Amino acid sequence: MKPVALLLALSIGIAGPALANADLAQKKNCLSCHSVDSKRIGPSYKDVAAKYAGNKDALSTLSTKVLKGGGGVWGAIPMPANPQVSEPEAKVLVQWILSLK
Ligand code: HEC
Repeated sequence: MKPVALLLALSIGIAGPALANADLAQKKNCLSCHSVDSKRIGPSYKDVAAKYAGNKDALSTLSTKVLKGGGGVWGAIPMPANPQVSEPEAKVLVQWILSLK
């Protein structure tokens, strides 16, 4: 194996799940309004994780909100519905967001 390929294989092995989720967020257009660390049109995902820490309803509430959209929590701008996301994908994305620190 060439060194570069080996390095790539290693980094995918270690950072795999987190990268896959960030990738999904990118692919589903979430990152055009959100970023992990800083507020853009929507709240940063770390802020979302902090706000809902310890809230056991967060996964289902937030997954529904990702699918259907809604507002009134973070500011004046509502999030539009995301019909490009399936329900299982919404759960994967929200689980990832809630796991950020
Ligand atoms: C057009 C811009 C836009 C896109 C695209 C978008 N969001 Fe949002 N998102 C927002 C805004 C604005 C808010 C704040 C809504 C509010 O104040 O209740 C938000 C809020 C959220 C929240 C917190 C909701 C709450 O009630 O606390 C989560 C979680 C979230 N978005 C996830 C996602 C995911 C996952 C995607 C991709 C499938 C996505 N967003 C795509 C704009 C967007």
